[in-house]
Amino acid sequence: METKLLPADDAGIALACTLLRRGELVGIPTETVYGLAANALDPEAAARIYAAKGRPSDNPLIVHIAELSALDQLAAERPPLADKLAAAFWPGPLTMIFKKSENVPDATTGGLNTVAVRMPAHPAALRLIRESGLPLAAPSANLSGRPSPTRAAHVLHDMDGRIPLILDGGDCTVGVESTVISVGENGVRLLRPGGITVEALSRHCRVTVDDGVLHQLKEGQKALSPGMKYKHYAPAARVILLDGDEAAFAAYVNAHAGDGVFAMAGQKEAAALRVPALPFGDEGEEAAQAQRLFDCLRECDEQGARTVYVRLPRREGVGLAVLNRLLRAAAFQVVPLKEGSDEAER
Ligand code: TXA
Ligand code: MG
Repeated sequence: METKLLPADDAGIALACTLLRRGELVGIPTETVYGLAANALDPEAAARIYAAKGRPSDNPLIVHIAELSALDQLAAERPPLADKLAAAFWPGPLTMIFKKSENVPDATTGGLNTVAVRMPAHPAALRLIRESGLPLAAPSANLSGRPSPTRAAHVLHDMDGRIPLILDGGDCTVGVESTVISVGENGVRLLRPGGITVEALSRHCRVTVDDGVLHQLKEGQKALSPGMKYKHYAPAARVILLDGDEAAFAAYVNAHAGDGVFAMAGQKEAAALRVPALPFGDEGEEAAQAQRLFDCLRECDEQGARTVYVRLPRREGVGLAVLNRLLRAAAFQVVPLKEGSDEAER
């Protein structure tokens, strides 16, 4: 199959609508990461998503809507808190999980009796949902296990020959996927940290961070968000997370410099490094780190990196999402560094 790459303009959106109504797949921009979209109410279209991604069929998809009223046909019930959060954060990178209505096929929800829904903030995504008249199921548009795509070129890299169309809507501004929560009467449970931060949610309700966010699930422990149990976001290179200050980080990385050794670092950190640094963000620049994260992980492969060192990000704000993704890319291995460069050098 030939894969077209078109700008997300009038002509691109018109072709995308035609394809989506026919049950085909389209790579679409959102503010978080690019999505691989299909008609969420068509089980065959949903099945095509799993095939194109090579995704395990028990890992459910997120359904994207453009008006709050579209929730009525998807969710069997919703707590009043959900409406409050929708008013505060939609359109935006917040996904809420509801008991599903019978309109939503099992193929879309990976067999679960719940459905995940969000209203994306990218104008092209909203236009596409409105003009196609369809709720769009869309996981991140990467091959299963690969870093999520934050540029149209990333989608083309993974999906060339597998889907008929990719719409280019520019680089994603958030860069990590949406925050996934389940909503109770008085509070929410955070299943995947993302663009909407714990701090922001906490201004509206009680927030419980699920164990799986920062810890590897133990044998037999059930993942509330099935996607969290799979190996994720990993480049071919070994990602090594270092926990220490800037000086200790530089000393450790420089002591391990060599062929195929890279770092992901902000401008300030990179200045002290004797290995090639992929432009990330410095400490305190969590939004920049999030925006750059997946492009860096993909760049590791492009540049043939064998090892890539990254300093453990702070947990504040969207830093929690960056940390969650990096822990998975690094298979939860973190090397603690003693503060001060001479200790780490030995
Ligand atoms: O920002 C995003 O959310 C992007 C863009 C394209 O919107 N989409 C995305 O989809 O990240 P995906 O499929 O890569 O991740 C969806 C996550 C998975 O971890 C999945 O397990 C979880 O949401 N999820 C989906 N439906 C669920 C449900 N009914 N219950 C629990 N978790 C669910
Ligand atoms: Mg994904």
